[in-house]
Amino acid sequence: MKKIYLGLMRINNMSQSEANDFLDNAITLGYNSFDLADIYGNRKCEELFGNFLETKKDLREKLFIQTKCGIDSENKNYNSSKHYIINHVKESLRLLKTTYIDSLLIHRPDILVDYQEIKEAFTYLFETGMVKSFGVSNMSPLQIEALEKYTGFKLKYNQVQFSLIHNYLVTEGIFFNMAKENYTLGLIDYARIKNIELQAWSVVQNSNWECFIDNPKYIKLNQKLDSLANKYGTTKSVIAVAWILKHPANIIPIVGTTKIERLKEYKKALNIDLTRNEYYDLIKATDITLP
Ligand SMILES: NC(=O)c1ccc[n+]([C@@H]2O[C@H](COP(=O)([O-])OP(=O)(O)OC[C@H]3O[C@@H](n4cnc5c(N)ncnc54)[C@H](OP(=O)(O)O)[C@@H]3O)[C@@H](O)[C@H]2O)c1
Repeated sequence: MKKIYLGLMRINNMSQSEANDFLDNAITLGYNSFDLADIYGNRKCEELFGNFLETKKDLREKLFIQTKCGIDSENKNYNSSKHYIINHVKESLRLLKTTYIDSLLIHRPDILVDYQEIKEAFTYLFETGMVKSFGVSNMSPLQIEALEKYTGFKLKYNQVQFSLIHNYLVTEGIFFNMAKENYTLGLIDYARIKNIELQAWSVVQNSNWECFIDNPKYIKLNQKLDSLANKYGTTKSVIAVAWILKHPANIIPIVGTTKIERLKEYKKALNIDLTRNEYYDLIKATDITLP
């Protein structure tokens, strides 16, 4: 089933009442899965969400709350050691004002990863009921394979950068044995084989976190998005999300807007089934030449 999650990385500049209003509207629109991380707004995003949740206690079980840890913003590096993970999750729970997190992701690969420490941290968090399920973000198939093998935990999610412009997840396969750098190491097929949910972040941005909608660097793509937006009676960004949803791997777009109007519009993407030609035409409009 097609799904869209709401990413809350950008709500940190909202007041509590603005955040309450935004989240209330999102839930009314049918968004019930939320993506956070300890580092978003230096924990402000978790705090705003938790304060909202405290006023809606009966909602908790209907929501899917995901957060992440592993990027050490104080030291500007990565940390996946046992005590670091456990302490960060405990702080997330305190701020989120909930007794459990539905999904915990290790935010980025840690060069100094010690699998035994992650195993012990996950075991503690799972057995105490603090975390229901685990996953990763920005990891390759082999990093996932190694983590699963040495922790004994099934990793259910991998959250990766993916959009019409940052499109390597789906385009690298067609460049097999061609002169093109291998970026995702077959992640999309690996995820399908292993039944790992792929979540896409920065769905309307390029690799440098610039929005490509109405961006003069991407004229051809915007023209194509515009003509499909007219055909389907929606906006260009909705078409960009419908393009992600079209893939049979059931990739879940995490939209990061802070505007209710856009959230409302994004719901339309769930009912747009781009044709095969439209799917490929959008890729070709990014200036990729099919081999
Ligand atoms: N795992 C990771 O490493 C990682 C990294 C980054 C993000 N994330 C997660 O992914 C979520 C989404 O990331 P993101 O916020 O970068 O995603 P996004 O949805 O691609 O980016 C949204 C940004 O583009 C802006 N925008 C400007 N014009 C727009 C238009 N016409 N249509 C739509 N948006 C437009 C939005 O502004 P408005 O607010 O004005 O709409 C917003 O600032 C985050 O909230 C976070 O949960 C994960």
